[in-house]
Amino acid sequence: MGLQGQETADWFARARTSLVAGVSSGFRYWGDDDTLVIDRGEGAYVYDMDGNRYVDYQMGFGPVILGHGDAAVASAVAEAAKAGTTFAMTQAREVEAAEKVRDAVGYVDALRFTNTGTEATMHAIRLARAYTGRELIVKYEGCYHGAHDYVLFSTASAPVDHLGARRSPVPWQQSSGIPGAIRGLVRTIPFNDADALERLFRSEGHAIAALIAEPMMGNCFGIMPLPGYLEDVRRLCDEHGVLLIFDEVKTGFRIAFGGAEEVFGVSADIGTFAKSMGNGFPVAAIGGKADVMAAWAEGGVMQAGTYSGNGVAAAAANATLDALASGEPHRHMDEIGGALMEGLARICDEFSVPAHVIGHPTMFSVFFGEEPPRDLRDTARHDSALYGRVAAEMIRRGVMPVDDALEPWFLCAAHSVEDVAMSLEAFADGLKAALG
Ligand SMILES: Cc1ncc(COP(=O)(O)O)c(C=O)c1O
Repeated sequence: MGLQGQETADWFARARTSLVAGVSSGFRYWGDDDTLVIDRGEGAYVYDMDGNRYVDYQMGFGPVILGHGDAAVASAVAEAAKAGTTFAMTQAREVEAAEKVRDAVGYVDALRFTNTGTEATMHAIRLARAYTGRELIVKYEGCYHGAHDYVLFSTASAPVDHLGARRSPVPWQQSSGIPGAIRGLVRTIPFNDADALERLFRSEGHAIAALIAEPMMGNCFGIMPLPGYLEDVRRLCDEHGVLLIFDEVKTGFRIAFGGAEEVFGVSADIGTFAKSMGNGFPVAAIGGKADVMAAWAEGGVMQAGTYSGNGVAAAAANATLDALASGEPHRHMDEIGGALMEGLARICDEFSVPAHVIGHPTMFSVFFGEEPPRDLRDTARHDSALYGRVAAEMIRRGVMPVDDALEPWFLCAAHSVEDVAMSLEAFADGLKAALG
């Protein structure tokens, strides 16, 4: 694509001399000529080292829900930093933040903080294994739950022809370095297929500790659960004594203040939360029903973290959750995200490009194909080359979704009606250019 101006290219060359491949997270590497180095963010915008401004729909891969540099979060964090952030004891800000999470999410009676989504899902899985005395974990093809060994199977990066048969899926391993024994403890299934889950539970339910699920596929186009599907999942988990973990690292506090339960009406036994809880500051949590969470208090189940619940993270969570609790950010995002979804669909129609804009107004994606996808396997029908060209054209025009439609566009409270209009123009022009 050649997205780097001179200053950005110079900074990236410098980054590569100290950071491996010039990045701190593998997902940030877009290729030698296209990996950007960012100077700052303001509201819905990011600025690269050349001063180019982009309307940002990546929002740091989802956490920045109020906008970059939100003033209330920044001042709460500054105050907390001055008060000393990490102690070997519980602190008041942490208690306040815990109360806010508990009060917002119906199925959370108690929680513990951690720092990242990866840590949260790792602890949730250990807790589920300890609580049930079982070892197997079930995850959906196309869902991502962080970078630890337990869950790096059949993520959305999996080539669909490596997933095995729908009736008997094969876990696809995303990385070298994962012990073979771990793979034997994971079962993978397609999303939105209650029969597949029932078959698996009938044969192995007695050995399954938990089903870990993104309640909508936040790492795979934002595919939504079909009506009644999550209810079936809940019922089957109850019938087989399997804990249901909602990984709400992306959906939590984003699709609604109360997350998936508020939108879909189904509750989990354990939930993991991160991203939108802290507007970009590293704060995460594992919460759930009282009897499950009590396993930590009863002893013998390890959970710990030097920085967990630190003052800066707790202050960020307090300020973010206070802002979200007013309801105004969600009203705004639902409205302009809805308008953006409608506008994108209309433009595809105008160009006679078969497409579906799928997901939730606060996180959605564009699928270029005839029938909307229900699961990862269906996404093989998406025209990813066309999408990549459209995204590149949009980025050149100052509007920045991720260049791969697997990753949703994320709205924040600072996106404006004007941003939406500019984004739709960039999409229309980008689609025209991409179609040649
Ligand atoms: C659903 C989900 N779970 C877990 C994670 C891992 O979170 P983190 O990157 O904070 O470790 C992610 C990251 O994108 C995610 O989308």
